[in-house]
Amino acid sequence: MTQRKRALLTGITGQDGSYLSEFLLEKGYEIHGIMRRTSTFNTDRIDHIYEDPHSSDARLFLHYGDLTDGTTLRRILEEVCPQEIYNLGAQSHVRVSFDSPEYTVDSVGMGTLRLLEALRDYQQRTGEEVRFYQAGSSEMFGLVQEVPQKENTPFYPRSPYACAKVYAHWQTINYRESYNLFACNGILFNHESPRRGETFVTRKVTRAVARIVAGKQKKLYLGNLDARRDWGYAKDYVRAMWLMLQQSEPEDYVVATGETHSIREFLDIAFTRVNLNWQDYVEIDPRYFRPAEVELLLGDPTKAKTKLNWEPSVTFKQLVELMVDADLEAIGQPCQNGNGGPLDHAMIRANMTSFVS
Ligand code: NAP
Ligand code: GDD
Repeated sequence: MTQRKRALLTGITGQDGSYLSEFLLEKGYEIHGIMRRTSTFNTDRIDHIYEDPHSSDARLFLHYGDLTDGTTLRRILEEVCPQEIYNLGAQSHVRVSFDSPEYTVDSVGMGTLRLLEALRDYQQRTGEEVRFYQAGSSEMFGLVQEVPQKENTPFYPRSPYACAKVYAHWQTINYRESYNLFACNGILFNHESPRRGETFVTRKVTRAVARIVAGKQKKLYLGNLDARRDWGYAKDYVRAMWLMLQQSEPEDYVVATGETHSIREFLDIAFTRVNLNWQDYVEIDPRYFRPAEVELLLGDPTKAKTKLNWEPSVTFKQLVELMVDADLEAIGQPCQNGNGGPLDHAMIRANMTSFVS
């Protein structure tokens, strides 16, 4: 009987970790995820796929650990003996990285180095190949030196987070070249979903739209509305991660849609979905400005399309609408994708009024 493949994930409780786990389970993998101990449950995104580990059918296992704790990472690697590692764990919020630069760099930069070191020793000792995926970011392009950005576009990071990702990127290449590791960097542009963290701009907007419709929120406070991002759908992007590790050679890939849109365009589609005008609700709060901003990101996914045969499946408009619909549903409001037809404008106004009073 052939043994099923084992994958070890850091960041399993995050947006990408949850989608990647679903994807790998469908492919027949056994999944081992590293999660942080928290005082309240932090497994919402994976509760639906979690099985009692005592069950003989269980294929998803969780281990307490932290990217700042190298001993534990090493111990888990030795216990699990995976064939693939996906390093998705990170303090991933760019704005927060300006407030907590040391911790961000420790988890993102040093965390990757700790894993690579453990992996290097493991592979040397056992002779078993373990394929490694590093979650790189378009934030590394920062003050962009070329439009669109490709695999060989020079980096110009503009935040502690992005500096740490650049460090992790080059360490991944360095370990590939020095120790013959099968290690790949995915340079992923922004990808979103209904599972996106609530403080990233897309989810902040779609959640606010639903709360405004439900009469639970009156205003939405945002920062720079002129920034442009290449936004894709997270489910598509985890497929690209897996594809990278199935190739015959380890390489680095840009994963993007090849389209860029401003926050204003995102607002337009999100509020129009519920027949509202965003200008009536959005206010600027300078506290959401960043000390240094990344104004424009636009990826060129040609290499991923040709070598990985990867394609995004969701358009920008579909992405915004599916996120709005999911937030409406979560708050108990009728969605546009159900059979209820367009939302009643008058009902929304009525809700707003009752909240105001
Ligand atoms: P996310 O939702 O913020 O998830 C981050 C994950 O990392 C969570 O599981 C979090 O655990 C975990 N984590 C945080 N600090 C940790 C630490 N010190 N030790 C171990 N785990 C830790 O991020 P995501 O959107 O899924 O992104 C996944 C990865 O891709 C990240 O590395 C991110 O930087 C990178 N990336 C994301 C995008 C994007 O647009 N989403 C684009 C490019 C690159 P808790 O649940 O306990 O917080
Ligand atoms: N978060 C947030 N909140 N961003 C805002 C707001 C706000 O209220 N108002 C405007 N923005 C602008 C930010 O200034 C930025 O230009 C843009 O919206 C996107 O911000 P985020 O959604 O926080 O994402 P990000 O682009 O900074 O970072 C995300 O994508 C990276 C890939 O390019 C994160 O997922 C990173 O982890 C990831 O590497």
